[in-house]
Amino acid sequence: MKFFIDTANLDQIREAQDLGVLDGVTTNPSLMAKEGISGEENVINHYKAICEIVDGDVSAEVISTDYEGIIKEGLALAELNPKIVVKVPMIKDGVKALKFFSDQGIKTNCTLVFSAGQALLAAKAGATYVSPFIGRLDDISTDGLDLIEKIRVIYDNYSYDTEILAASVRHPMHIIECAEIGADVMTGPLSAITALLKHPLTDIGLEKFLADHAKSNK
Ligand code: G3P
Repeated sequence: MKFFIDTANLDQIREAQDLGVLDGVTTNPSLMAKEGISGEENVINHYKAICEIVDGDVSAEVISTDYEGIIKEGLALAELNPKIVVKVPMIKDGVKALKFFSDQGIKTNCTLVFSAGQALLAAKAGATYVSPFIGRLDDISTDGLDLIEKIRVIYDNYSYDTEILAASVRHPMHIIECAEIGADVMTGPLSAITALLKHPLTDIGLEKFLADHAKSNK
């Protein structure tokens, strides 16, 4: 399973990259705003800076909601760097745009997906990635992981190439369960990724190994 980090924070992206397990980055307008990035030029420069840090795909989201606007923005974003994946919302004009980009060989990430039907449409339109938001489904008492399972079955039934990118991941159990189900990618915060490191028996075991080594090497 690929690990993407879901942030626009350059320090956190660097930290995940340094860990050696990072396969890409996802951003969205809220995450850009959280870092205080505003204005077209600053946003563009920020995407370029992210692409400098990571080796893998970098999702950059369009703001337009009409077909022409999505195409114009998406083409400009795709020009920035071959790592850029144009992130398009799951709306009618978005689906049309996914097909356009797919025909042009431009990578896409269909975002704001909350149902299996939406995921099926995204795959048929040729999306590179589909982003079901599991945390936000959990927030409304609907099991987000059930949706990942359904999409996995549907995509496997027809051998769709679209990769399931589990998004809105909030904690390490989301990551583990996504891996069990067979999501192709997960995107989450640095805290969820580094939480995978932790086990109290690892800490206790290491402390004992080091203490025994120190005793026998006095
Ligand atoms: O990748 C989508 C993600 O940014 C949404 O996460 O935590 O805002 O639901 P969250």
